[in-house]
Amino acid sequence: MARRVRTVRDLDVWERRVLVRVDYNVPLKDGRVLDDTRIRASVDTIHWLLDQRARVILCTHLGRPKGQVREELRLGPVAAALSAIVGRSVRYVRDIIGPEAQEMARRLQPGEIGLLENVRFDPREEQNDPEFAAALAALAERYVNDAFGAAHRAHASVVGVAKQLPSAAGFLMEREVQALQRVLESVEQPFVVVLGGAKISDKIGVIENLLPRADALLLGGGMANTFLRAQGLETGRSLVEEDKVDEARRLLVAAAQRGVRVELPVDVVVAPALSAVNERRVVAVTAIPPEQAVYDIGPETVQRYASVIREARLLVWNGPMGVYEVPEFREGTRGVAEAVAACAGFTLVGGGDSVAALQELELADRVSHLSTGGGATLEFLEGRELPGVAILMEESR
Ligand code: 3PG
Repeated sequence: MARRVRTVRDLDVWERRVLVRVDYNVPLKDGRVLDDTRIRASVDTIHWLLDQRARVILCTHLGRPKGQVREELRLGPVAAALSAIVGRSVRYVRDIIGPEAQEMARRLQPGEIGLLENVRFDPREEQNDPEFAAALAALAERYVNDAFGAAHRAHASVVGVAKQLPSAAGFLMEREVQALQRVLESVEQPFVVVLGGAKISDKIGVIENLLPRADALLLGGGMANTFLRAQGLETGRSLVEEDKVDEARRLLVAAAQRGVRVELPVDVVVAPALSAVNERRVVAVTAIPPEQAVYDIGPETVQRYASVIREARLLVWNGPMGVYEVPEFREGTRGVAEAVAACAGFTLVGGGDSVAALQELELADRVSHLSTGGGATLEFLEGRELPGVAILMEESR
């Protein structure tokens, strides 16, 4: 008996009011959406519902307003970006469950789109308050969850509503779950795991869960420094999680016992400070100067990683190889992005900077699956059940 998510195809939505939870937690600047990837990723579901003449009521969070109304986190810019993408007007109301929201839901015609205000303006959202969930549910007759990025949050609009209405996953949610399940269940080899980002603490659970099946683990970013330290190397002023050095050592031993090949940088880009980009240089990991810090992996490391990535039949990449915000320290991440794009196996990439690198190089369509989740993707890879996914699961033969 297999488990699968119920999808929007399983729901009767014809001309009905459908509450759709999306994850439009997107970066904003000067009242505009800076990166609309998450909005674009949701349009398949929206178009499908509109084709069914559904009345689509969208609901999302934006940022972490902690139950307070914050003017800069209102959804006006998101409504404008969505409207431009779907080519239709969007009835945005500055209300979540109150009279304005109810009026909008009541008046919405088949084939029209409404958008509720930032659902986290109400403290009951994060508390998964049943009455709040009931009030959201009362706006519609069906519920669709396409917010994979928020599926690890047991909040009212993610879990509470799903208990109160006939519910199903949208197409984005379905694609994410299928791709991540493939990574967790497949036996394709070599299975290569590429991890970067600042902290090892964010990735320990992923390493532990994937280690039994991985063939190679390639490490970069700030987290690699903690592993270098665990190997007894000097790391100068680099970011190191001192309290995780023993943990890193334990993971290296566990990998060796399982015969997993672990690659750490052999050369790195160092500088006296993050702002001292003109003083950056490449050194061997055995020669990191005491007054300098590591900000990227070096070219030889990129070559070595690329040769492992090339052979992968299954690959997961999460996290940048260097300080991606600073253009001078992007080369390692770019090199890995190019190698991942050239890999013929099934490739899944998650995490803001890894995805940004692929988009910047116009290679995003060369990977098998780009995950829109941040914490949700990592928790899935850790083997944890996401509450927003679990509630949409059903047994199938
Ligand atoms: C994300 O950006 O990863 C999701 O939207 C979840 O946001 P959160 O971490 O604030 O719950």
